[in-house]
Order: sequence, then C-alpha cells, then structure tokens
Amino acid sequence: MRKPRIAILGATGVVGREITKITEELGIEYESIKFLSSARSAGSKITFKEQEYTVEEAMPEVFDNVDIVMASAGGSTSKLFAPEIVKRGGLIIDNSSAFRMEEDVPLVIAGVNDEDLRKHKGIIANPNCSTSQLMLVLEPLKKFGIKRLIVSTYQAVSGAGLAAINELKADTIANLEGKPFENKCFKKPISFNVIPQIDVFCENGYTKEEMKVVNETRKILHLDESTKISCTAARVPVFNGHSEAVDIEFENNITPDEVREILNNAYGVKVIDNPENYEYPTTRDASGVDPVFVGRIRKNLAFENGISLWCVADNLRIGAALNTVRICKRVIEMGLF
Ligand SMILES: NC(=O)c1ccc[n+]([C@@H]2O[C@H](COP(=O)([O-])OP(=O)(O)OC[C@H]3O[C@@H](n4cnc5c(N)ncnc54)[C@H](OP(=O)(O)O)[C@@H]3O)[C@@H](O)[C@H]2O)c1
Repeated sequence: MRKPRIAILGATGVVGREITKITEELGIEYESIKFLSSARSAGSKITFKEQEYTVEEAMPEVFDNVDIVMASAGGSTSKLFAPEIVKRGGLIIDNSSAFRMEEDVPLVIAGVNDEDLRKHKGIIANPNCSTSQLMLVLEPLKKFGIKRLIVSTYQAVSGAGLAAINELKADTIANLEGKPFENKCFKKPISFNVIPQIDVFCENGYTKEEMKVVNETRKILHLDESTKISCTAARVPVFNGHSEAVDIEFENNITPDEVREILNNAYGVKVIDNPENYEYPTTRDASGVDPVFVGRIRKNLAFENGISLWCVADNLRIGAALNTVRICKRVIEMGLF
C-alpha cells in the first residue's frame, strides 16, 4: 500500500487542529505532510508527532506532489483550490458545504456509506456536523423503513469556528459583569440565550442548516422523496457538543428494546440509557471523545411505529475532523488516491 503525501488545509482553525490531532491518533501513515492556512497564519508553527512544522500559505503550487488534502478552510477557499488540487492529480476531502450536493461528489460518513467513496472524481465531501452524528444512528435502523424523520438540534458554538467560541466567552463575561457587548458572529447575543437560526433563511422558511440535514440525510442514506424529513436547528450557549432530539416513524414495528440492542452493537455509537438512575448522554460526556451517544430511547406517542431518542456527539470530531480522517484512512485502505 503506497503511503500518501498529505496536506491539511485550514490547519490553524478549530476543525483543522482537530484533524491534525486525529491524524496522529488514527495512525495515518504518510510519505510527507504539510500544514496550510491563509496569509494570516502563514509562518506560524505547528507541532505534530513531536516535530515542528511551519504553516505555509495556501496557493495553487503548494498542492504540487500532494495526494490527499484534508480541507477545513471554508467554502470559498475550497471552491478556489479544489480544481487546482484535482488538476494536479490530488484528492480533496472537504469539510465545507461547497460540493456536498453535487452529483459526482460522494458525501460520506465512514462506516455508513464507504462504498460511495469509489465514485469520487477528486472531491469527497464531509457532511454537515448535525447530519453526521445522526447518520451513525439511523443507518443501522434503516432496515425498518424510515417513513418520517423529525430532528431538533441544539448546536454548540464551536460549530461556528474559533471566533464564535471566543464570542461566547466574552459575551458571558460581559453579561455577568453587566457590561455592554456587541455580538458579531451571531445575529443575537449567545450568552444565556437560545438562537433559533443557524445560517441564512431559505425561501421555504427553513434555514440553510436545517435544509442541509434534510438533503444530506437523503443523499447519504440513499432515501427517496417518500421519506419525509424536517429539521429545526438552534444554537445554544454550549462550547462544544451538539445535541439532537430525534423522532422517527418506521414502516415496520420496532420496540425501544430492539433499538437499544441494535444501537448497542452499532459502529461508532454508544448507548447510555438508564433514566431511573439519571443516566443519559449530555454534551459533557461527548466532548473530546469519538462515539455518538444515544439515550432516552422510547416509544414516540405521536407516530404509529414511532421511536424518540436523544443523540449527542462532539461536533468537531464526528461532525467534522474525525470523519474526515476516517475517510482519509478508508481512501488509503481502499487504494482510492
Ligand atoms: N466547526 C465545525 O464544527 C465544523 C463542522 C463541519 C464543517 N465545518 C467547516 O469547516 C470549515 C472550517 O471551520 P472552522 O470552524 O475550523 O473555522 P475557523 O476556526 O475559522 O478556521 C478556518 C481555517 O481556514 C483557514 N483559511 C481561511 N481562509 C483561507 C484562505 N483563503 N486560504 C487558506 N486558508 C484559509 C484559516 O487560516 P487562518 O488561520 O490563516 O485564518 C483557518 O486555518 C468551514 O468550512 C466550516 O463550515 C466546521
């Protein structure tokens, strides 16, 4: 198996830092590795596997002799560099939403639809964070026939990048000290608040974030229009870890015990479900670790064959960096670069 020449684009950002960490954790073997950012952070230092690297400014030529680029530098940056990477024979695994819904771009959650990777033409997309954690939970339940899916998300500020994390900190301190604070990342103050808007509004009244969950879920799980999906996404003053309340109507009867057993044995999922002892997952359980946690599994009272559950995960890991590096690992194992 040939070892790839790797680049991490956006290495100085929240997701890029996690990608760097997880590349080491998953033992990705490479021939060479480089770390890229905008001109702002170029020249800064990154320590990786006890070796110091200088961050380079991303420009087309830096992608010469690079096989795999793990990118988390925003949609416009990906759109700018993806053609340059592909032209040079490289492959980009992209965290932005720039290419996710393009037909010839596989949208992949490792362990869910790995076979779709074979269809890549130089670009592989990593799903939106709120979609990602849900896929590992839904995939093993798909065989019961998903008729209707309603998702409500409670999303941490880390999903909006480093500036948003800093804004929650500063806004909280200002609020406690009774000082004025001008919010920049969010449309409303984020401290001690819940904001029912993530990304811009679409014509149908849903936000773009909500429509990402709808459309990406369909693409990854290969569900057709007969499965009805709806999502409400809210930003909450949590630093890291997205929570989701999920209601699923199935074609066939399925009991909470069956769901518990299936998810207990599912790849990447951990069930914590013992409400009598106050055992259910929270963002503090999920932050910094790999599994998607599921709890509060119960019969849904509004649907005939319905199940409700609570799903929590580290949005920076499974929602972005972990899945990116897992995809990279699968691409190497499957010889797809
Ligand atoms: N945070 C999440 O949970 C999450 C989840 C899924 C997907 N994503 C996606 O991942 C991407 C990055 O998110 P983030 O939260 O890590 O953002 P971030 O903390 O703001 O980091 C952005 C990174 O991109 C680099 N960058 C910006 N403009 C660039 C340019 N023109 N050329 C090269 N590098 C450039 C930045 O370099 P400088 O240091 O030089 O500014 C930095 O390394 C976004 O597309 C986001 O939608 C994020």
